[in-house]
Amino acid sequence: MTNFWSGWITVLVVGTIIGLFWLIFATRKGQRPAETEETVGHSFDGIEEFDNPLPHWWFLLFVGTIIFAIGYLVLYPGLGKWEGVLGWTQVNQWQKEMDKAAEQYGPLYAKYAAMPIEEVAKDEAALKMGNRLFASNCAVCHGSDAKGSFGFPNLTDDQWRWGGEPETIKTSILAGRMGAMPAWGDALGEEGVKNVSAYVLKMAGLKTPEGIDVEAGQKIFATNCVACHGADGKGNPLMGAPNLTSNKGWIFGSSYTQVQQTIRYGRNGQMPKQEHLLGNDKVHLLAAYVYSLSHGEQPEKE
Ligand code: HEC
Ligand code: HEC
Repeated sequence: MTNFWSGWITVLVVGTIIGLFWLIFATRKGQRPAETEETVGHSFDGIEEFDNPLPHWWFLLFVGTIIFAIGYLVLYPGLGKWEGVLGWTQVNQWQKEMDKAAEQYGPLYAKYAAMPIEEVAKDEAALKMGNRLFASNCAVCHGSDAKGSFGFPNLTDDQWRWGGEPETIKTSILAGRMGAMPAWGDALGEEGVKNVSAYVLKMAGLKTPEGIDVEAGQKIFATNCVACHGADGKGNPLMGAPNLTSNKGWIFGSSYTQVQQTIRYGRNGQMPKQEHLLGNDKVHLLAAYVYSLSHGEQPEKE
């Protein structure tokens, strides 16, 4: 804030307070002699109003609010650049709360972080904490039941794009993941996209559309797609290339139109990295929680 604006705000605030002080004292009336029946002078349907002074307690309440305002402005920031004698800021209040939470939960997180993920995944208290972390950090994308939706993978099944090993899950969360399915529209042309899409459906055991050259599609697949999706079409977790021999883990839809869309324009699913946001210990707990969703006895949520 420049000195000018700081001064401007200070003058306005102080001026207003002085003005209010003046107003409340200047308009104050002494006690009205009991016998006079002076009215304020207006009448509504014959009803008139006595010109009584403000009750004493009410007057004091006004004075009190002004004193409160002055006290507040001394203690807290409010007058331009004045920081207040308490030195309060939003940032250090937030920091204090974070420090308190870290002090309270830090040792607990650290205890779990030192255990193998599979072990943490069996600890009920840990899973409760994981569930809460999931609800506030992951549910926006993966859903509160972690079952995903269009574009966001289901984390409760046995289909993994990047791998379902405990440490791999942790890496997915810690470092994030970027799916890179290239666009094939230009390279293959309309005909090629249609053919290979039909072949993908066939591979996944889905119904293929009539009148499409699936064999030509198979050739296209063998030339262009196996590098990532594997010769058998079962995918490659190193690249996050999904298994195409079943549509169970697909996130971009398995209708003929959606598959064509995927192949024509490509897809770039992004799992944001959490390391800087949550830190290793919380991610460790989350990895255990996610791992537990597809392992061990989970209550069925159908
Ligand atoms: C460079 C590696 C690479 C190549 C080559 C590649 N893909 Fe992919 N493909 C991927 C990745 C990675 C994904 C996941 C994208 C994501 O999650 O955002 C994917 C996703 C898909 C999907 C969507 C699956 C779902 O989850 O809905 C289909 C269908 C698909 N690829 C078909 C093909 C076909 C057909 C070809 C050949 C024309 C091909 N891919 C070539 C890497 C590749
Ligand atoms: C902004 C949306 C978003 C948020 C928030 C998000 N994710 Fe993801 N996540 C994704 C997407 C999209 C993918 C799939 C990436 C791809 O296309 O390969 C993914 C993938 C994953 C995977 C890998 C799945 C697999 O099949 O290999 C895991 C594990 C995961 N997320 C866990 C989490 C956890 C735990 C959190 C909370 C800390 C979280 N995600 C928050 C969008 C999100």
